Amino acid sequence: MPIVAVTRVIPEAGLRLLRDAAEIRLWQEELPPDAEALAALLQGCDGALTLLTDTIDGAVLDREPNLKVISNFAVGYDNVDVPAATARGVAVCNTPDVLTETTADFAWALLMAAARRVVEGADYVRAGKWQTWGPTLLLGRDLTGATLGIVGFGRIGREVAKRARGFEMRVLAFDAFPDERVARELGAELRPLDDLLRESDFVTLHVALTPETQQMIGARELDLMKPEAILVNAARGPVVDTDALVAALRDGVIGGAALDVTDPEPMPVDHPLVALPNALVVPHMASATVATRDRMAEVAARNLLAVLRGERPPHIVNPEVLERER
Ligand code: DGY
Repeated sequence: MPIVAVTRVIPEAGLRLLRDAAEIRLWQEELPPDAEALAALLQGCDGALTLLTDTIDGAVLDREPNLKVISNFAVGYDNVDVPAATARGVAVCNTPDVLTETTADFAWALLMAAARRVVEGADYVRAGKWQTWGPTLLLGRDLTGATLGIVGFGRIGREVAKRARGFEMRVLAFDAFPDERVARELGAELRPLDDLLRESDFVTLHVALTPETQQMIGARELDLMKPEAILVNAARGPVVDTDALVAALRDGVIGGAALDVTDPEPMPVDHPLVALPNALVVPHMASATVATRDRMAEVAARNLLAVLRGERPPHIVNPEVLERER
């Protein structure tokens, strides 16, 4: 039987599939293994089911010549050095499609919570401050008729656009590889990034983290936004320059931010961002529903087992390794 490392306890839907076909080495702690523990866990393994908290680079792969597959339990795979894996003939797999709607729903949850100050309201009640109905208490921003800017018009960005129809919003979209037809079908207007930032009341980020998107929203971009605009990030933390965001929120350059992802991650509780009343920070949970995490576990397990069986996995990031012999 092949030996497979699983770097955290994932839903049973995936573990069950692996158990039937492999010997599993499961990391059972709540926190991820550090570099040393990860190396020990991977030792002698044929495959690894990894999380976005595991750094898999050339040095890690060099220590394990038996490794044939890194199956990431996420659609994003910026924690894996894909060229290094490809150069070593290691397949890298991910879990797209099964979390698209769930993540888009959550971007909306963030957007609405920030626009209507839901968390501030709940904190107000918990703090015992609620004494009466107030005409100017916790005033927020209307969504209906507002302009929504979607940065990154791939699978998740497009689902976010569909949900905007119910709010009769004007939807602007920016993508590095714009698709006019799709934009037209979804009622979105394609815009250069700077124009989108200038025109939008809400800006939501849905790009993958790459060298091109790293800190794509910095002081200059925040400065282009409307002073009351709200920024939502359910993509990856490093897409936004955190220091610039803190300054923009503090100085009223933009109205607010709602962040599922941050840089650094986790965000320390004493970081200035956490204390800002106009920043809503949650712990990278956009895909966190029971059904979606089950599906992600299943897809990650199926990807991994397919590679070990010499079959084509459902979702592979570097298919060129399948064409080659190791
Ligand atoms: C992903 O899949 O990349 C998310 O960030 C976690 O679900």
